[in-house]
Amino acid sequence: EKGTYPHFMLKEIDEQPFVMRKIIQEYQDENNQIKLDQDVREAMKACDRVYIVACGTSYHAGLVGKEFIEKLAKVPVEVHVASEFSYNMPLLSEKPLFVFISQSGETADSRAVLVKIKEMGYPALTITNVPGSTLSREADYTLNLYAGPEIAVASTKAYTAQIAVLAILAVDTAQAKGIELDFDPLQELAIVANAMEVLTDQKEAIEDLARNYLETTRNAFFIGRSSDYYVCLEGALKLKEISYIQAEGFAGGELKHGTIALIEEGTPVIALATQTDVNYAIRSNVQEVAARGANAMVISMKGLEQDSDAFVLPHVHELLTPLATVVPLQLLAYYAALHRDCDVDKPRNLAKSVTVE
Ligand code: M6R
Repeated sequence: EKGTYPHFMLKEIDEQPFVMRKIIQEYQDENNQIKLDQDVREAMKACDRVYIVACGTSYHAGLVGKEFIEKLAKVPVEVHVASEFSYNMPLLSEKPLFVFISQSGETADSRAVLVKIKEMGYPALTITNVPGSTLSREADYTLNLYAGPEIAVASTKAYTAQIAVLAILAVDTAQAKGIELDFDPLQELAIVANAMEVLTDQKEAIEDLARNYLETTRNAFFIGRSSDYYVCLEGALKLKEISYIQAEGFAGGELKHGTIALIEEGTPVIALATQTDVNYAIRSNVQEVAARGANAMVISMKGLEQDSDAFVLPHVHELLTPLATVVPLQLLAYYAALHRDCDVDKPRNLAKSVTVE
């Protein structure tokens, strides 16, 4: 039920801090350490490469997951769009582990890959919001997202839940391999939950940005570097899916290789700047597009902010920034769609779960 909310999407955006806390609770033992199924831990430890397979928003979560698993657990990871994987299978390593990420657990494109790799005899882990779903039943192992039912077609809380569970999986694998980490992951996730609450309390500010930048535009670009880039892909998908604005996410460094030709007077460019090591570079990109007439806005994080930034996020652990940056992007998409009189929860041509290949 929507309760007092005008749309499920807004309700689900607001639920994200609670979902984070639920995940912490479900994946925590009595000593406040990560608790994960022993079989999953063994499978992660035993593999020589992880193949993440997913579609849409879940694929975008997978990109962030790759960063976690490689950086923390030092296991190589490939992320694949399920529909491409089925007929364009990459060369596999000797001991692959397949990780399917799917909110619904019913996505046909992902299932087709699961069936194929099971026939080949490879192990599979499904990360899903629906424990009894097809992808969950047919895989060897399952991790639950605990996000609660997601009704809006545009995925929001499932995306952040996927990223949080992937962080937990990466940390657990690192610990299983005896790799020392210099932060407490569950504590950092708790900080993220608080940051999300601050963000969801700033709806008016984001609504103003949506009004000023997106109300009448035909297109919009999101730029970022490093993990901000992955969130740009998700921010663009969210915007196009529900507001029908043609939106694309680009890596800041790619602009000069072609994309910058698209910038015209007034083109909205939303830049994410939350990563210390690329802060200077992304800000130069913002200047480049602004000099060509773009209506540029910077969303930055406390500690890296500048006076001219349109929106500043509370500080969270640098690896976990996607969990925070995506919230204003979800809200931007929501308000853009609302102001353009679009059907927020049920965008045209789309279904909540795509059960045909
Ligand atoms: O249920 P799944 O996570 O497998 O769904 C994958 C995509 O269809 C889904 O994320 C889709 O892109 C959403 N509508 C995005 O908001």
